[in-house]
Amino acid sequence: MAKDLPPAKQRHLAELTRGFRGVALFLFLVSGVINVLALTGSLYMMQIYDRALISGSVPTLIGLSALAVGLYLFQGAFDAIRSQVLVRFGARLDARIAPLAHRVAIDMPRFGFSTSEALERGRDVDTVRGFLGSQGPNALFDLPWMPIYLAFIYFLHPLLGALTLAGAFVLTTLTVVSEILTKRLSVSARKAAIARNTIADCNARNAEVLKAMGFAGRAVGRFNEANDEHLRLQTRANDITGTFAAVSRVLRMVLQSAVLGLGAYLTIKNELSAGAIIACSVAAARALAPVDLAIGNWKPFIAARMAYQRLRDTVVALAAADTPMQLPAPVRSLAVEKATIAVPGSGQVVLSDIGFELHAGQALGVIGPSAGGKTTLVRALTGVWPLLRGHVRLDGADLEQWREDDIGRHIGYLPQDVSLMDATIEENISRFDEAPDFRKVVAAATAAGVHDMILRMPGGYGARLGPQGAALSAGQRQRVALARALYGDPFVVVMDEPNSNLDGEGEAALTKAIEGVRARGGIAIVIAHRPSALVAVDLVAIVQHGRIAAFGRKQDIMTPTASDVRPASANQTTQIEARRPA
Ligand SMILES: Nc1ncnc2c1ncn2[C@@H]1O[C@H](COP(=O)(O)OP(=O)(O)OP(=O)(O)O)[C@@H](O)[C@H]1O
Ligand SMILES: [Mg+2]
Repeated sequence: MAKDLPPAKQRHLAELTRGFRGVALFLFLVSGVINVLALTGSLYMMQIYDRALISGSVPTLIGLSALAVGLYLFQGAFDAIRSQVLVRFGARLDARIAPLAHRVAIDMPRFGFSTSEALERGRDVDTVRGFLGSQGPNALFDLPWMPIYLAFIYFLHPLLGALTLAGAFVLTTLTVVSEILTKRLSVSARKAAIARNTIADCNARNAEVLKAMGFAGRAVGRFNEANDEHLRLQTRANDITGTFAAVSRVLRMVLQSAVLGLGAYLTIKNELSAGAIIACSVAAARALAPVDLAIGNWKPFIAARMAYQRLRDTVVALAAADTPMQLPAPVRSLAVEKATIAVPGSGQVVLSDIGFELHAGQALGVIGPSAGGKTTLVRALTGVWPLLRGHVRLDGADLEQWREDDIGRHIGYLPQDVSLMDATIEENISRFDEAPDFRKVVAAATAAGVHDMILRMPGGYGARLGPQGAALSAGQRQRVALARALYGDPFVVVMDEPNSNLDGEGEAALTKAIEGVRARGGIAIVIAHRPSALVAVDLVAIVQHGRIAAFGRKQDIMTPTASDVRPASANQTTQIEARRPA
């Protein structure tokens, strides 16, 4: 699959898995040493029974014991090294993947994924790291070394070797069958968990409505249904793995006794020494222990593997295809060319084949009925939603050609649903600028007409806003968000219904802000239902039924009363070239 990826994505993938092979090889070899050393117990017993006891020599016993203790110490040391390497490897992997996964998670809603699904990516990182720090990987690294024990037992007696091999085969088959039986269930259980979390998330967001209109009980009922479904699937999966684990545990005990019994039989037939029986039994136990451990850790292993695959797939799918080069700041124009925009995820086309061009110093008012596609247009202009076809260009360069962090400085965006960050007002306005210029923050706040209001608040610019900016009223939030959009004088300022919560004073500030953007050679785009937001614009577009029904100078498009919109005539083209204001 990696072969078909474009080079940039292959680089991402390589970056993600860099150093894995070396660590895995190291762990594999260390596990080999541990497993060879783990034969100490068997050999010690064999020597005790067949040599020390028969010869009755205490010095031999002491010598053998000292040797065994030394080897045990080595084994312990290697074991410690192995688990430390695994824990550090987990931490390193986490440090490398977590920021990438979070970046992708932030992007996922733009591509039609739910917030819960996006947040899962963070949990996926925890799952992978948690597994690497557990006993599970040890079992997986021990498994390939099982032949050492089989060879050891086979060397003592082929029949015993065959018996152990058969046992290992049965146990492995059990593991595989359990995997096949639970795989689909695990996937469904995970989906059910996401569905449940989505409902929980939605209920928490609508807490006020649930309380005021008293349907919290029914909302809990909805949650409960989803929770039951998740529990049902989880229980079934747990039942299967639990049963298989119990069966394989018993089988292992039976097998160990069988080795002992067969050994005794062979001893009676004089084909084996007494020491060898004990040695075989111990070696068989040790050979099968990783199988047992692997079965016990199967679920976490599968969970970690699926989590890692999801992380890898999303990172590769959503990570930027390539890092474009840095372009000079735009100063001339914003052009939309034959753009078709669809809802990410569903692919439902909302706007088709639209085009217009705006020049520095112009301001466009966008009006039209609800669900006409105004917000969708804005999402395309700001790069929030990818275009299905066509281009949005700043000074001739497609938005895709700009570096994401770079283009952000040239775009100011006030969304229709204002949501502020749980941070200070200053951090919100400066968009978490690491070295915020306080003068720019104040300038933006002043331009949004919110400076005096901030000063009157306890804490002023340092006041923390709480989740979603809960500490502010809706109108205050909108004005702080306007200040955020104006911060740093971006070339294009897009405002989606900026006056929906504003009072007269706020609307006057908005008009001044739009005039300010035009005066400094920027481009302003304002979506509005209320004409008071359009005082300072010179161009107007009517967006309805997924098309631009009219586009032109404000006085040509709107009737003098300005409140009702003249219907677009049938022959009006959608691509009237906007004239520059004198
Ligand atoms: N995230 C979304 N998922 C699915 N459909 C969407 C999504 N966003 C918008 N749509 C659909 O796109 C169409 C246009 O929506 P849009 O938000 O652009 O309208 P609008 O003109 O901004 O309306 P309003 O004036 O009410 O804000 C609607 O039919 C809506 O159902
Ligand atoms: Mg809208």
